[in-house]
Amino acid sequence: MFMELDDCINGRRCIRRYKDDVVPKDIIDKILHAGVWAPSGMNGQPWRFIVIEDRDTINKLSQRTKEILLNLQWPDNLKEAFKLEEDTIFYGAPLLILTCVQKIEDFRTVHLLDCGLAAENMFLMSYQEGVGSCFIGFGNFLNQDPDLLAEVGVPKDHELIAPLIFGYPAENPAPKPREVKILNWIK
Ligand SMILES: Cc1cc2nc3c(=O)[nH]c(=O)nc-3n(C[C@H](O)[C@H](O)[C@H](O)COP(=O)(O)O)c2cc1C
Repeated sequence: MFMELDDCINGRRCIRRYKDDVVPKDIIDKILHAGVWAPSGMNGQPWRFIVIEDRDTINKLSQRTKEILLNLQWPDNLKEAFKLEEDTIFYGAPLLILTCVQKIEDFRTVHLLDCGLAAENMFLMSYQEGVGSCFIGFGNFLNQDPDLLAEVGVPKDHELIAPLIFGYPAENPAPKPREVKILNWIK
């Protein structure tokens, strides 16, 4: 399936309700390949991926994230959501891809940017394939539990930077308005 780039960029939305259907392996491969074709600082390609399709594992990570989040200060509505039994972190998505990098303090900013660029490539490719997605920044709080991350394959000298969920959309959210805010334009 091919889509005009304009349609892809403008049409992609974060999806927070998913159908049960699994994402086929060939599409997961396509999404991962799109990620690694992103540019990266000094061509470092620092991203490493943990692909999780097992629902119990995704649920375990979600429950643990909520536990960690509940020890911190949040607005009431978020606190209430974190107390719910349901998966209010990864939204019951059938596919979770944890993007992580080796912890190197001097390169942290570059690595953050690299993983962000990879993530958007992955989102656009998945959208083209009819698969919804969302960046789950809350998932990064799992860095506070390195033992659990190690259990799913994140080495102790790595950190999680971009937890990304994917699945077939069960909603069609309206676009959130965008505005090009130019501070200055010098000719
Ligand atoms: C770095 C980053 C972290 C995010 N973290 C979360 C998150 O933890 N949970 C969530 O539901 N959405 C999360 N989002 C999704 C944003 O809320 C979403 O992109 C934004 O509202 C714009 O909506 P759109 O992507 O549908 O245009 C995150 C997005 C980014 C880029």
